[in-house]
Amino acid sequence: MSSHQDNNHPAKITKAVFPVGGLGTRFLPATKSMPKELMPIIDKPLIQYAVEEALAVGIETLIFVTSASKHAIFDHFDPMPSLKMRFEQQGRMDLVEKVNILSPDIKTVYIPQGEPLGLGHAVLQAQSLIGVNEMFTVLLADDFIEAPQNPLLALIECARVTGQTTLSVEQVPAERISSYGIVSPKQWHQGTAEIDAIVEKPHKDEAPSDFGVIGRYVLPARIFEVLKATPADGKGEIQLTDAIKTLLQQEGVHAVQLDGQRFDCGHHEGFVMANLHVAMKDPQLRTKISNYLNDQG
Ligand code: UTP
Repeated sequence: MSSHQDNNHPAKITKAVFPVGGLGTRFLPATKSMPKELMPIIDKPLIQYAVEEALAVGIETLIFVTSASKHAIFDHFDPMPSLKMRFEQQGRMDLVEKVNILSPDIKTVYIPQGEPLGLGHAVLQAQSLIGVNEMFTVLLADDFIEAPQNPLLALIECARVTGQTTLSVEQVPAERISSYGIVSPKQWHQGTAEIDAIVEKPHKDEAPSDFGVIGRYVLPARIFEVLKATPADGKGEIQLTDAIKTLLQQEGVHAVQLDGQRFDCGHHEGFVMANLHVAMKDPQLRTKISNYLNDQG
């Protein structure tokens, strides 16, 4: 691994960026007035899973890049003292716990994206909140992950050792390659590899591998200057993958294989599967769902 900083003094990563400003067109009309990241897996919104994943690795500041007109994410994480008091008066401490999502020492910041000009543009909106030498993590909440170990741990470890961009990747089926940023890993070592290329949505016959970038990143603040200089693509969007490709010409970029199961909840199949996956872990729901599916033949 090429190193960018003193390995003995790894910087702590304390800030997470959650881009939640996408249009979510594949989930219209549900996403007309609600970000898709608020869609629930059973009873917990996707964004809350992602926030809990970040908090579990010591993130202290949550930065939500939101669409200007949507306040629902803010409302979801708001302590809502009146609701809390009502449940307390009823002695419903189980409900108090459910609505009390963030501890008071966690800082939340909401930045409007203005226009949905792509993931790269969304990440760029966080620039003023990230120090010039700081690294930060980005989580796309519509990638719902179930893993034996928090997937951010290995990602952050690699980024802290190298001081460089680190991407979570997994092998994707051939027919899905053209939907992903695909990396070309050099030499895998315990699930981590430096990459020598990244290609946005290649044709499967031209892809350098079948390792697709998924919605977990650790990025250095250097990415912001690159993003500013990244032209919009044919759809008028600034792609994060394009900026990472440019950064790769200047310094190392690393990939860490996801050790776990990911559901792409940005499309119907992944979202329904994620709900089924979680439901089947609940013994009561499992029996009822199995019976229902059996009855359907
Ligand atoms: P997607 O590529 O899934 O786009 O964004 P989308 O607009 O949300 O959904 P579709 O394709 O129209 O159905 C990946 C992530 O980047 C965020 C999204 O909210 C999602 O978490 N994003 C995307 C932004 O925050 N802003 C953007 O301009 C685009």
